Amino acid sequence: MNAKIAGIGFYVPERIVTNEELTEVMDTTSEWIVERTGIEERRYAEKHKDTTSTMAAEAAKIAIERAGLTAEDIDFIVFATLSPDYYFPGSGVLLQRHLGIKNIGCLDIRTQCTGFIYGISVADQYIKSGMYKNILVVGAELHSAGLDFSTRGRNVTVIFGDGAGAAVLQATEEDKGILTTNLHADGEFAEHLAYFNPGTHGGVFLGDKSDLTYEGEPEFGGMHLTQEMMDKGDIFPHMNGRYVFKHACEKFPAAIKEACEATGHTPDDINMLIPHQANLRISQMIQLGLGIEDERVYNNIQKYGNTTAASIPIALCEAWEKGLIKDGDLVCLAAFGSGFTWGAALIRW
Ligand code: UT7
Repeated sequence: MNAKIAGIGFYVPERIVTNEELTEVMDTTSEWIVERTGIEERRYAEKHKDTTSTMAAEAAKIAIERAGLTAEDIDFIVFATLSPDYYFPGSGVLLQRHLGIKNIGCLDIRTQCTGFIYGISVADQYIKSGMYKNILVVGAELHSAGLDFSTRGRNVTVIFGDGAGAAVLQATEEDKGILTTNLHADGEFAEHLAYFNPGTHGGVFLGDKSDLTYEGEPEFGGMHLTQEMMDKGDIFPHMNGRYVFKHACEKFPAAIKEACEATGHTPDDINMLIPHQANLRISQMIQLGLGIEDERVYNNIQKYGNTTAASIPIALCEAWEKGLIKDGDLVCLAAFGSGFTWGAALIRW
């Protein structure tokens, strides 16, 4: 059995937040953001309307319908997010409830930007083993609720946006679908892109402090947030941007080449590359290194910012909706992010 993508969908909140709007609350400029990241605008969820799992449900409904199925046909849910509705339980069960499905298993994946690649890899194995026939794989993020909108957080905040993307992976005997996936991680770099609090570390910082870009000593307070932690901004995501950028430029191409080699292809054979939308400059570096022309890569970070686990399914779906992906095309998905984690997938569409 092969696992093909039988249906795909995405959802982004209506509210468009331009770079100009961010300049009203923090010391930044639209020129800086566009020049360093390519981002022109992003979407923010509407309070009391969108949550991570409700956005996921909107994307999932489209994917299920396009697969010619109903929610009852789904055998298993894989949900990738770093911004879950609750600390626990994971958002997978909430998505299951929104879709009105009972009893099926739900697996939450915590590999951040690489979450969707890990998700389809897991789904591919379940389908190949014959355990499940229709698996819903979702990436969804609601970043805007957890960002630092003061100048202190500008290096992180300007990048991220909200949204969700979903795919139904389906068993098929046809000669198409997922050809290969590769998954990687290196926990040595865990603290370079992380959200520490709340967490069970109880003040024990395990990483290399010299690389932290915090001003002053970070407050690693554990599960209970204190006023001091809030005042110092230790309740926001931390990113050592340049370090992440450097590693991303190495690991993305390595994963893509590995996927090509595993299937007897070269980057020249790829009809459409969908890189995780981390930063337009990173996508361009990958493209340049692999000799992939503009027509064979799809980027939409300009409109949606970096939506972490949602970025690949959103970009994949949008490219497909625009007719840029056709039956028989070789599609490559690749990601790098917090963990560090990275990986790639090759799909015969
Ligand atoms: O998807 C997960 C993986 N994440 C990534 O792949 C992100 C990888 N990293 C990046 O994309 C880039 O590192 C950033 C876009 C985050 C930052 O760009 P950079 O060119 O690496 O800037 P930087 O952090 O080295 O900062 C350069 C300067 C600093 O000022 P000084 O110290 O040179 O005076 C920052 O304070 O730019 C300043 N800066 C800003 N200025 C205006 C940082 N953020 C901003 C901002 N607006 N938003």
